[in-house]
This record gives sequence, C-alpha cells and structure tokens, in this order.
Amino acid sequence: MIKQKSIDSVMAAVRIEEVVGDFISLRKQGQDFVGICPFHDDKNPSLHVSPRLGIYKCFVCDAAGNPVKFLMEHEKMSYPEAIEYLAKKYGIPLEYERNESDEERQQRTLRESLLIVNEFAQKFFVSQLRNTEEGKLMGMSYLKERGFKDATIDKFGLGYCPDGWDNFTKAALEKGYKEEYLIELGLTGKSQSGKLYDIYRGRVIFPIHNDAGKIIGFGGRILKKDGKDPRKYVNSRENTIYHKSDTLYGIYFAKNAIHKQQNVYLVEGYTDVISMHESGVENVVASSGTSLTQGQIRMITKRTQNITVLYDGDMAGIKASMRGIDMLLEQGLKIRVCLLPDGEDPDSFAKKHRDSELQDYLAKESKDFLLFKSDILSKEAGNDPLKRADMVKEILKSISCVKDNIERAFYVKECAKMFDLSEDDLNLNLRRLVWEKAKGQSRTVQQQQQTGGSGTVTVEQPETPGIIETKKHPEITQQTTDLLYEAEKDLVLLVLNYGNYLIYGANQNEEEAPKELRVDQYVCNEMMKEDIRFHYPMLERIFNMYAEWAAYIGNQDQIIRNFTLCDDPQISEFVIRNIPVEPRFSEHWQKKYDIHTHTTRNNLRILQNQVQNILLLLKLRILENDANTIRKILDNKNLAEEDMGLALGQLNKILQLKKIISKRLNRVVSR
Ligand code: CTP
Ligand code: MN
Repeated sequence: MIKQKSIDSVMAAVRIEEVVGDFISLRKQGQDFVGICPFHDDKNPSLHVSPRLGIYKCFVCDAAGNPVKFLMEHEKMSYPEAIEYLAKKYGIPLEYERNESDEERQQRTLRESLLIVNEFAQKFFVSQLRNTEEGKLMGMSYLKERGFKDATIDKFGLGYCPDGWDNFTKAALEKGYKEEYLIELGLTGKSQSGKLYDIYRGRVIFPIHNDAGKIIGFGGRILKKDGKDPRKYVNSRENTIYHKSDTLYGIYFAKNAIHKQQNVYLVEGYTDVISMHESGVENVVASSGTSLTQGQIRMITKRTQNITVLYDGDMAGIKASMRGIDMLLEQGLKIRVCLLPDGEDPDSFAKKHRDSELQDYLAKESKDFLLFKSDILSKEAGNDPLKRADMVKEILKSISCVKDNIERAFYVKECAKMFDLSEDDLNLNLRRLVWEKAKGQSRTVQQQQQTGGSGTVTVEQPETPGIIETKKHPEITQQTTDLLYEAEKDLVLLVLNYGNYLIYGANQNEEEAPKELRVDQYVCNEMMKEDIRFHYPMLERIFNMYAEWAAYIGNQDQIIRNFTLCDDPQISEFVIRNIPVEPRFSEHWQKKYDIHTHTTRNNLRILQNQVQNILLLLKLRILENDANTIRKILDNKNLAEEDMGLALGQLNKILQLKKIISKRLNRVVSR
C-alpha cells in the first residue's frame, strides 16, 4: 500500500498534458491541447486535454478522466502501478504503509504478478550475462561479437539464460514465484514426465517492453547453429500481459524520438532496432518478423502519421510485404520505403557504416511508397502488355486505399505519367474500386451495429434516494426523484463552475445599494436560510468538500483539480464527466433554460437569474418529493384518522408552497 501522503505529492506534481503527451501527439489549441483519441477509431483530433482542469475528455467517445485513469485505461495499469509510474516520472519518492514481502506482492492481481515475475526473470538473465562465467563466455562474447556496446546492452536490458536444464526455473521457484505463472509466461516448460525446464536455455535474451516500459515478454536468440533446437528465436507465448499483435519491439525506447521526428522507421527484428539506436536513429520499432496488425498501427498513428519501412534489397521479400502496406495507407498513414543494398538488413548496414552515413542514406533513399511500388512493378512487368495491365490494376488498388482525395489525385497523375496512360481512364477504374470498397465497408458497419457494436456507454445511476418506494405510483416517484437528482446536480455544478463569480445578494433594505456576493456564498446563505438539504449523499459530499476547499483556496480551477484528482473514484468521475472543458454553462442548462452561453461570463444578470433559478427549481423538486412521501403515507389503509388529517394538512401546505414557487420560477425563467 502506498501511503496517502505520497499519493498526494504525486497528484500535486502531475500535469495531465505531460502524461497524455507521453503516449499521444498533442497539439496546443488555446489553453488546451488536442490529439487523436486512442480510445476509439479517431481520425480527427477529438481528445481534449485541459491543463486547467487536469483532465482529458474525448468529444466523440466516452473517454474522460484524470492522469491516473488515463494510465489505467490506456496502459492497462493498475492503480498502484499508475501511481508508481507517475512517481518515477516526476521523481517523487514513494512511501509504503509497510514493506511488502515478495509473496504478498504476488497476491495482487494476476497481471501485476506476471509483470513482477518478468521483472525477476529479466534481472536474473542480466545477472547471468554479467556475473557468471558461462554468461560472459557465451552470451556476452556473442553480443560483443555482434558489435553491441555495453551501454546499449544495458539500455535494452539484454541478458542470458544458462544452458542447463532448469537454472532459471529453480531460482524463480526458490524465490517463491509460482510455477503456474512461470508456465503461463512461457518462461518454463513441463515435460511429459512432469519435469520443469527453462524454455530460454542457452539463449541471449531480448526483453520486450510495452509503451510504459514494463517488461511484457522476451525474445531469446539461439547462439549455436549446430544445436538440436532449430528455432532461431523463442518468443513469449500469448498470455494475460503479452499480446504479440499489440506489441512493437522498441516502442518504449522510441516514443520520444518518434514524437520529435514525426516519423518512425519500421524494421523486422530485435537486432535491427538495437543497431539503429547505436547509430543514433532512435525512432525505430520492429514488427518482429510479421506484417503490422491493426493494434500495432494504432500504436504508431497515436504518435505520428509518417512511417518509413526499411527493406533489404531482396525482391521476393519486398513483393511479399507490399501487400500489408495497403492496410497502412487505409489508416491514413504516409508511407515511405527505404531500400537497403541487396543482402543488407538495418543491423548489418548500420554496423558497416558510420552514423552519419546511415542517417544520410535513410534521408536520401526514402521514397514515397506508391511511387516506389510503381517503379518496382514496372521494372518487373517489362514490356509484356498483359503483365503491365495487371500491374496498373495492382497500383490502382493501392491508390484506392489512400484516404485523402487530393493525395489520391496526385497519385493518379503520377501513375498516368509513369505508364503513359490517360488520367481519365485511370480515374474511371479508380472510382470503381473505391465504390466497391465502400459497399464492402458499409456492410461491415451494419454487421457491427447488428451485433451491438463495441463501445459500451456507462449510464450514470443516481443512488437510490432512500425515501420512498411505492407500488401505486412507481412512474411518478421515479420521475420526481430523478428530477430531484437533476436539480441537486445542477446546484453542485453551479458552485463548481461559477462559485467565485460575483452576483448581487438579496437586498435587505430597499434604499441600500445591492451588495456584491460570490455565487457560492449566496448559495450557502440561501440553503441555510431555507433549510435546504441534499438528498443524494454523494452530491452532498461534493458540496461540503467544495465549501471546505473554497474557504482557503482562492483559485477555482485548483478546486476543480482537487476534485478531478481526488481519491474517491465516484466523486472524481462525477466531476470529470460533468465539468465542461471550456468554462461555460453546461449544455444541459442551455437547453433547459434557453440561455446564450457566450455572454454568460460577463453577464451578471443572466448568472444572477440562473442562480435563483436553480435554487428555486431545487426547492420545487424537494416539495414534489415531499408531496410524494405524504401521498405514500396516505396510501396506507390502516392510517389513523388523526394522522390522515395531519398528512392532508401537510400536503395542502406543500402544494400551496409549490404553487408560489412555480410562479416565481416562471417569472425568473421568462425574464
Ligand atoms: N523471428 C522470430 N522467430 C524466428 C525468426 C525471426 O520471432 N524463428 C522474428 C524476431 O523478432 C526477429 C525478426 O523476426 O528479430 C527478424 O528475423 P531475423 O532477421 O531472422 O532475425 P534478426 O533479429 O535480424 O536476428 P539476426 O540479426 O541475429 O539474424
Ligand atoms: Mn538480422
């Protein structure tokens, strides 16, 4: 358990834009930032990040929250993981309630446990590499032979698993890590006779980090070529924390550079990533030998729209991987291709050339993908007319994947020039392709809708109001309590949004000039005077917290930040959901009272009316609610006569009051 005091210090230091900005490209827009929302398939920047409120909010999908929520949702961290991550980021030391033992830590969620086991495994492999004879002799000398520098080996956390039967597994079990976790992670195998063995034995280890730097898996490369095991690499199997299709090797070490360069190099393997880093190219990730998946593409498009695929000069390989690239075009990515000399991969090329040579080569040889493809196919087809026709179709298919109309037109022009064809003919064919694709897509959209779609919307459930429950007027009761909730909610949001604005207080004395008063003070006075109380405990808590903070925090935004970061998830969620990113009356009010929001800020009278309005409406809802309570009492057949008389008298009073308030409310509303 992290001490609350430590959590508070972390919360005081976090900046939402820096946390979100670590994972997503943000652009400044006024006081706020915007970016592509990672929580739905976003094409335009719908995610708004507000430093003022300390929150992010997507204007299209349901996503909203504070920095901790972001890490939990986006990085799938647990709450303590998120706090630990932020503490590390902001250099804040954490204090724990007491030191957890290794076993206790394992009791946490499966995910956390698996991450902890991986962390142990990685440390084990590193220490084997560095501190044992076998590690130095076999592992380290292999890495040195390949030309990796010590600092790089350290940075990427490379290690070595000794060539015995179960060195690692034994060490892990001795430390108390569960056998089932070791097997789940694919670190340990079990023979038919029930013997446990090290899956990675005799291999150099490449830990695989997620976006946030946690080790989610391992790749292990064989050293000896003569061995009985024919697999060059052993990789983690799919498990709770490792999903190959959502993993890009090197992303953690590349993300800052990708941001800065607004480009990412895509290579095939572990060693390619590492070698390019050594040559000073850090915006590089590996798909680990397969074509990109949607999940991997999403990891890239969050950060940049530009991707450069590095190919070695082998034609067969190029042609095979070209197919996968249409998918990238469809995602709106701008793709370039950089062809390495025949037989070279990024690793070998980087090793043979100076840093500046590699960088120059990448800059000079990177070509637009479609032009590159046309070029290659054209050479291949030669003068054979049939082949050339096929080739043009193939290229048009790629062009049809380009999202942007203008870009598409550009490619048609180029293509026409390159193959000496008429632009009109090409356009005709292209339109047909685009049309066919659109038909196919609309079918899939329909299918998705039929199956209910994927986005789940959480509906805010007011707490049960603990007052009445009647069988006779269920619909009335439900309705009045909902309205009461809405009225109390409006009042709470009023003080949160406008508590520090000034309005005129009620005139005690006709001759005196009206006194200016803060909205929150005015509301508090009125509530005391009229003995208005909350019916919904959470709303009441928020109101009280507000009153407490407002007494000594001068800055309204700071108060809201306190709410968005507060450790009661129900409260922070409520505030985050309901606070407008831009300071204004909520749309809800706008609809309800038909006010023009732009002028509100400066228009004291509108705000004044608004405040009165909300208070009156709340009173009205409370009276309706009370009336219902009494009706419920009257429904009771066994009610004594005198009680009946009392209840009727009460109900009458309430209804009269209701009438008065309705009248006043109408006046305010219609003004
Ligand atoms: N790969 C794999 N399993 C294999 C072969 C390859 O998972 N049997 C994946 C690995 O992620 C590897 C990538 O495909 O990094 C590229 O393969 P390759 O070029 O053969 O390996 P390199 O990493 O380049 O290794 P080396 O330079 O040592 O040949
Ligand atoms: Mn290689």
